[in-house]
Amino acid sequence: MTQTKKSIHGEWSSRFAFILAATGSAVGLGNIWKFPYIAGENGGGAFVIVYLLCILLIGLPIMIAESLIGRRGRQSPINTMSDLADEANADPRWHYVGWLGVIAGFLILSYYSVIAGWGLSYVFKAFFGGFSGADGTTIKDTFSGLMNSPPQQIFWHSIFMLATMLVVSKGVAGGLEKAVRFLMPGLFTILMLLVAYAMTTGAYEQGINFLFNPDFSKITGQAVLTAMGHAFFTLSLGMGAIMVYGSYLPNSISITRTSILIAGADTAVALLAGIAIFPIVFANNLEIAAGPGLIFQTLPIAFGNMTGGWLFGILFFVLLVFAALSSSISLIEPAVAWLVENKAVDRKKACVWAGLATWVIGLGTVFSFNVWSDFKIFDRTIFDLLDYLTANLLLPIGGFCVAVFAGWIMKPEDSEHELRSSRPIHYQIWWFLVRYVSPAAVFLVFLNVVGVL
Ligand code: PHE
Ligand code: NA
Repeated sequence: MTQTKKSIHGEWSSRFAFILAATGSAVGLGNIWKFPYIAGENGGGAFVIVYLLCILLIGLPIMIAESLIGRRGRQSPINTMSDLADEANADPRWHYVGWLGVIAGFLILSYYSVIAGWGLSYVFKAFFGGFSGADGTTIKDTFSGLMNSPPQQIFWHSIFMLATMLVVSKGVAGGLEKAVRFLMPGLFTILMLLVAYAMTTGAYEQGINFLFNPDFSKITGQAVLTAMGHAFFTLSLGMGAIMVYGSYLPNSISITRTSILIAGADTAVALLAGIAIFPIVFANNLEIAAGPGLIFQTLPIAFGNMTGGWLFGILFFVLLVFAALSSSISLIEPAVAWLVENKAVDRKKACVWAGLATWVIGLGTVFSFNVWSDFKIFDRTIFDLLDYLTANLLLPIGGFCVAVFAGWIMKPEDSEHELRSSRPIHYQIWWFLVRYVSPAAVFLVFLNVVGVL
């Protein structure tokens, strides 16, 4: 059956619109906030190489798989998976993959919104001149001040959640599609300026060395898991975000080409962020494994000391918040699309409920950095636990299922039909990767972590 369906939620106006939305989903806090700090915690170069390999061999094939599954199913991930499983005479339980994604999306958004809130508060700190001329210690104190204040964090978390709900309630093709047009060039420009500043710090080479000179003795099984998990996280894979965006994708568009473009842009932003940050770390003798606070304790030093830093600082944090917003809407969209399809609620109500639930869970993350910082489960704070559970377990499991579904369950004619505008050789490479390489890689990393391998 190679006939195609249309989506009830509407369709992207063009190939460009899909690229914008999917790039908006991919490029976010994962690139600018998370990538540098996990690279710092895991020893740099070798970790970065493993991460890049994961993008290429696992992320890209699964991104293609998710998009084509979405476009074939044309519904929320839950209903798409159950329909396509039905078409393939496969086990109806495949739709649990959709459920897994909805849960992962909720949990990720709960902490994502808190971190985006930090970014939002930094827009104002930048505006009121808080960074001007500041050194490492002052900037560190500014950050600690925010960490130690639940009311401030809750305030900004609430604003960000409200913004997300507002945008999502207006439907898929709303204003954000347009905003991403300015977002990407804007982000690239400011990151380049920051890289230029990093070159003047005197520790540029040291930073580059750290990031690209691999020392494989630093690689542990956990580090490989973190790198792989981050490949899923940064490309928005394994939880239905790309699947739901794929479901709004017109039939004429080449999924392979758009996926390569999106993964390429995402990787470029992450590497630029790393190149900008590490020289600042070395030049100011900051802690390289500073964790989630890393960008908030480094970049303000650059803005405080470069020409035009006041303006660029404001712009940077505004762009960061917008990048986070274009990701957060895709974290909640699978749940909202399902509520609209199955529970006969309208989009607005679906957004309010989904948003409220996420906001409440987010409080756990806020308190992880102050009043509950000593409260640990499996040796992790609530934030660490949510991050580990989602990025290192749920997304890879979801992605593994997507790969197996596209490679082994769906009829080959169907996937071939969806990729018909790709060159046959591209289709064959994808087929091989998604059938054997990606699922096997995920499986082996898991085996290694549980100590079987
Ligand atoms: N890819 C986003 C980022 O890097 C995060 C995200 C994960 C968005 C999963 C949607 C789904 O910031
Ligand atoms: Na990303």
